[in-house]
Amino acid sequence: MKRLIEKVAIITGAGSGIGRASAHTFAAQGAKVVVTDLYPDAADRVAHSIKEAGGHAIALKVDVGQEADIKRMIDSTIEAYGRLDVLFNNAVNKNPETARDVDFINFNEELFHANMRVNVLGGVLACKHALPHMLEQSHGSIIFTSSTSSIAGEVAQFSYGASKAALNWYVQSIAATFGKRGVRCNAILPGVIRTAALEGWANDKMVQAFLDIQNVPQLGEPEDIANMAVFLASDESRYVNGALMRVDGGMSCTTPMVPVVRAYL
Ligand SMILES: NC(=O)c1ccc[n+]([C@@H]2O[C@H](COP(=O)([O-])OP(=O)(O)OC[C@H]3O[C@@H](n4cnc5c(N)ncnc54)[C@H](O)[C@@H]3O)[C@@H](O)[C@H]2O)c1
Repeated sequence: MKRLIEKVAIITGAGSGIGRASAHTFAAQGAKVVVTDLYPDAADRVAHSIKEAGGHAIALKVDVGQEADIKRMIDSTIEAYGRLDVLFNNAVNKNPETARDVDFINFNEELFHANMRVNVLGGVLACKHALPHMLEQSHGSIIFTSSTSSIAGEVAQFSYGASKAALNWYVQSIAATFGKRGVRCNAILPGVIRTAALEGWANDKMVQAFLDIQNVPQLGEPEDIANMAVFLASDESRYVNGALMRVDGGMSCTTPMVPVVRAYL
């Protein structure tokens, strides 16, 4: 039995990585998928391959940093499919400076605002435009891709981590504000997932070290996040609201002493 049958789902940043894997997995589970990305060719390729496999999809160029694009994304979805059941806010600002954001004394204010605009405001505005439709149906699931970087301090990617922590607040607040009217909102906190974003900032030694601090044998794959997103999008998760779901190979379930004990005891 398919788990997202009759559901209409928008995914942002669906041209690559976690968003692309989610678009394919949602479609395989019966959803009609609105594949959106800043790069229209990437979105087109994903929608095309979903349709080739017998699924339903449309592609849209959407910059989540622009409210006019977001409004068009919601309007086009309603026009194409008549309803909106799932909004998956997954896009992330791709500025390469994010990886070099390690100098707190020379704080990069421009990067801070860019990350907040795309990573936080983009999702919040998408909720603003999606919610009237979901509330009218008394039914909807909103998902944000957050990060394990949001739950504790870091020594790098300051603006990225801060944006994901801010996003967690909105997830819980949207969950509280609209849950009783049938709209749920949850976040997925991925650990270390093998996507282009990871390759953009972590070298081989860092990747090996990340592997060592996880409590499973392998790094995460985009499909590991997509599978959690399917659960949150489906009615199987009807009692899950305002949750910050860590999908990180157990990386954040221990004290920081564990890798030391494992290495030396
Ligand atoms: N890969 C990881 O290890 C990891 C870990 C924690 C959290 N995450 C989160 O997972 C999500 C997906 O990341 P990914 O690893 O798949 O990255 P990715 O780079 O593969 O995909 C991100 C997508 O977002 C799109 N995008 C960028 N700016 C946009 C904009 N303004 N409007 C619309 N789309 C835009 C890009 O074109 C790209 O297709 C992000 O929110 C990221 O923060 C990833």
